Amino acid sequence: MKNFEFYNPVKVCFGKGEIAKLTGLVPLEANILLTYGGGSIKKNGVYEQVMEALKEFNVIEFSGIEANPHYETLMNGVALIKAQHIDFLLAVGGGSVLDGTKFMAAAALWEGSDPWDILSKRGKVRVDKALPLGTVLTLPATGSEMNGTSVVTRWETKDKLAFDSVHVFPRFSILDPEVVFSLPRIQVVNGIVDAFIHVMEQYLTYPANAPVQDRFAESLLTTLMEEGPRVLADRTDYDAAANFMWAATMALNGLIGVGVPQDWATHMIGHELTALHGIDHGQTLCIILPGIMQIKRKNKEEKLLQFGQRVLKITEGTTNQKIDAIIEKTIDFFESFGIKTKLADYGVGSEIIPQVIERFTKRGIKAIGERGDLTLEDIAKILDLQLK
Ligand code: NZQ
Ligand code: ZN
Repeated sequence: MKNFEFYNPVKVCFGKGEIAKLTGLVPLEANILLTYGGGSIKKNGVYEQVMEALKEFNVIEFSGIEANPHYETLMNGVALIKAQHIDFLLAVGGGSVLDGTKFMAAAALWEGSDPWDILSKRGKVRVDKALPLGTVLTLPATGSEMNGTSVVTRWETKDKLAFDSVHVFPRFSILDPEVVFSLPRIQVVNGIVDAFIHVMEQYLTYPANAPVQDRFAESLLTTLMEEGPRVLADRTDYDAAANFMWAATMALNGLIGVGVPQDWATHMIGHELTALHGIDHGQTLCIILPGIMQIKRKNKEEKLLQFGQRVLKITEGTTNQKIDAIIEKTIDFFESFGIKTKLADYGVGSEIIPQVIERFTKRGIKAIGERGDLTLEDIAKILDLQLK
C-alpha cells in the first residue's frame, strides 16, 4: 500500500426528515446564500423543508445553476455574494449545484487576477480560503456532498474542468433518501452508473496489496448492482433509496482511494464528451469505460479478473475469455438501465476523435491513467472502438 493522508471533515446527517436539522447546523447570525438549480426543489417539497428550517435566518436565493454548472452563471453568483456580504453558502441540489457552490465559495475570496485560474491552473495555483458551505443533496451520484472537488464548465470555450481544495469540503451535508422518489428515471440511472464508475476509477487499476480498499470497493460495486434495480423497480422503496444514496457517497468520499493507484481516464475523456456534445456525465462514462477495459485489458488484467471473480462471479474459461465476459457483463449492466454505450447512439461520429485529441494536446496532456501510459493514441483507439 502507498503512503496516504486521509482527511474528511464533512458532518453527514442521513435519513428521513433530517433537513429540519438545518436550523442547528447553519451558523447563527449568518447571511446565507441558498443556491439551487432549475426548480426541482420547489416541486418535491425540499425547498419548503429548507425554508421552514431557516425561517429565523437571513436567506438570499440564487437559483438557475444549470446541469454541468457554467462558470458564467457562477460568476453572477459571486457578484451577488460580494454585493450582499454573504458569509455562508447552502447548496440544495445535485452535483451541479453543489459543485457550482463550491466554486463560488472559492471564487468569492480569490485574490488572484482571474478566478478561472482556479480551474485552468489546477495544481499550479492553490485555493487557500473559501466561504464556508453546507449542502442538502437531492441526487445521489457524484459524491460532491462529501468531498472537496468541484467540476465547472466554461460555456464560452466548452472547457469542463475540475479543482480540489480542503477549503470547499462542505461543513455538513444532509442526505435524505426520500429525495430519490422525485428524481426522473434517467437521473437515477445516471447516478447509479456514475457512482459505480467512481469506484472503478479507484479499483480497476493494478493490485497494491490493499485488501481493505479492495473489499470496500467490491462491496460498493455489489451494492450498486443489487440496489440500483430495486430503486428503479419501486421508486418509493425507502431502503433501496437509502442504500443507493449511501453507496454513492461512499464511492467518492476519499476512503476507498487511499493508498491505491487511481485511474480517472474514463472521467477525463467523458468530460470532453459532455463539454463538446452535452451528453450526460453518467452516459459518457458508460461509453468510455468499456473501451478502456478493452484497450487496457493487459494492464488491468489482475484487477479485471478479481472484479470478475468477486463481483460478477465469472470463474470459467481462459484469461481472455473471462475478460471478454467481464466486459460484456459490464456493458449488459449499463444497458439493463437503457443506457447506450456507443457514440453513434448519441449522434456523435468519428469527428470526435481529432477534437478530443486536440483538446488534450492543447492542455499539454500526453498520457493519463493509473500508470500514466494511456496515451493520446490509446484515447483515439478507445473512441474509435466506441463509435458504433
Ligand atoms: O436543476 P434542478 O431543477 O435541481 O434539476 C436537476 C437537474 O436537471 C435534477 N434533479 C436533481 N435532484 C432532483 C432533480 N429532479 C427531481 N428530483 C430531485 N430530487 O437532476 C438534473 C441533473 O442534476 P445534476 O446536479 O446536474 O446531476 P448530478 O448530481 O449527476 O451532477 C452532475 C455534475 O457533477 C459533476 C459532473 O461532471 C456534472 O457536472 N461531478 C462532480 C464530481 C465531484 N464533485 O466530485 C465527480 C463526478 O464525477 C462528476 O464529474
Ligand atoms: Zn463521475
